[in-house]
Amino acid sequence: MSRSIKIFDTTLRDGEQSPGCSMNIDEKLMVARQLARMKVDIIEAGFPIASEGDFEAVKRIAQEVRGPVICGLARTMDKDIDRAAEAIKPAERGRIHTFLATSDIHLKFKLKKDRNQVLDMAVAAIKRARNYTDDVEFSAEDATRSDIDYLCKVVEAAISAGATTINIPDTVGYAIPQEYAERIKNLFDRVPNIGKAVISVHCHNDLGLAVSNSLAAALSGAGQIECTINGIGERAGNAAMEEVVMALRTREPYFEARTDIVTEEIMAASRLVRNVTGMTVQANKAIVGANAFAHESGIHQDGFLKEKSTYEIMTPESVGLAESSLVLGKHSGRHAFRDRLKELGYSLGEEDLNKTFERFKRLADQKKDIFDEDLEALVAEEVFRIPQVYELKKLFVRSGTDTKPQADIVMAVNGAEAEKSSGGDGPVDAAFRTIAEVVKTKSRMLAYEVKAITGGTDAQGEVVVRLREDNFTVMGQGSDTDIIVASAKAYINALNKLAYLKKRGEKTVEKMCE
Ligand code: KIV
Ligand code: ZN
Repeated sequence: MSRSIKIFDTTLRDGEQSPGCSMNIDEKLMVARQLARMKVDIIEAGFPIASEGDFEAVKRIAQEVRGPVICGLARTMDKDIDRAAEAIKPAERGRIHTFLATSDIHLKFKLKKDRNQVLDMAVAAIKRARNYTDDVEFSAEDATRSDIDYLCKVVEAAISAGATTINIPDTVGYAIPQEYAERIKNLFDRVPNIGKAVISVHCHNDLGLAVSNSLAAALSGAGQIECTINGIGERAGNAAMEEVVMALRTREPYFEARTDIVTEEIMAASRLVRNVTGMTVQANKAIVGANAFAHESGIHQDGFLKEKSTYEIMTPESVGLAESSLVLGKHSGRHAFRDRLKELGYSLGEEDLNKTFERFKRLADQKKDIFDEDLEALVAEEVFRIPQVYELKKLFVRSGTDTKPQADIVMAVNGAEAEKSSGGDGPVDAAFRTIAEVVKTKSRMLAYEVKAITGGTDAQGEVVVRLREDNFTVMGQGSDTDIIVASAKAYINALNKLAYLKKRGEKTVEKMCE
């Protein structure tokens, strides 16, 4: 009989810490609702002390999302614990997750404290958190580089102080699967009160081993796996939830363990996170990449057609991937449109629905068949939008074999119209230069990516750009049947995000981790 492993999703906290992945409150709520639909056990909704926006997001999720435990992160400082407690208060079931480094390297250079002081700080924080909730998680940050004897001592003290979950993070993605599994086993063997807490694992992907390490730890008895949708997260990211969950589902007899995740919701979650963060997914990414279920070679296709299980270890349906279905067209009404969005997991208010429906009608005039992916791009553009300082009104671009590319643009800047023309090396460059002149931006473009949302020559182009200015990195997205227009929209979207972050004066989480 399989035991059950809890899935702790940290897309909204560790995931949001990846450069350019910041989400606004409405976006976080949408993601949290999808996580609840998937039946994750715990949603780490944010780091309440990090900023006013983070606090509000955790509080709104605690108020509005039912099902999973809602968790807020806190350092071991009193003010962090109190703030996290306030944010999770409205939750049906709330958890405070407090963390402190236990490796000598962190103690010496970051915390400038000795082992006894750190142990006392952890115990005090857990006791304080227990005054607010009986669900307290403690993370021994950088546990995989911590002295094992000291780690055992900290874990024992943390459980005695009232921690109900103990997390053993591979903070810097340094562990190797066998070694990590051994460390977890060691804790089970050596910590006398270990049976009183759930042992959790949290792996970063610096060596590409986050999922393997998490699964190895599951074989050693870990009862909770911390992960993110699409594997987003600090640096190379966290363990990808879809990979962990599908490995456990596909190889359940081997692991003798399972999760309660509704795996058919995986694709919807993946697309939603991609849309709100702008962080694209590589085509060959396991489970959710565009090629994950594509059989290209002749031999594979032949075998697959004779018997699917020759080359398929899980079905596309089991992760919620259906054939791109023709859903709507020019004559579809508002009702059908709203119902389809609902089926895709988007419950829009009247205003957002009206805006999106208008855009849909315009798109249906340009493009005969509208697919689910088109609808998702529309929602991404019309709904997941921070306040618009800059708006594209008109764009006209000339380019060709014998013409120097030239763009003429009309934009609204805080509601006032601004017009400019400029040349460039190509039509996209001309459009971008013109926009940059209007906005007078100092940002640097780090990446520009374009792809077709669906097949066919009338497909919408989807563009993602990544910009950096000072401490802020943002992603912008745009879609249109014209890829130059899609590019301009993506650039303007990124510039709006920069303006929003600068105005909010957001303290970055890096700055918080003093
Ligand atoms: O990677 C890490 O150590 C963390 C902790 C806060 C759990 O994210
Ligand atoms: Zn982490």
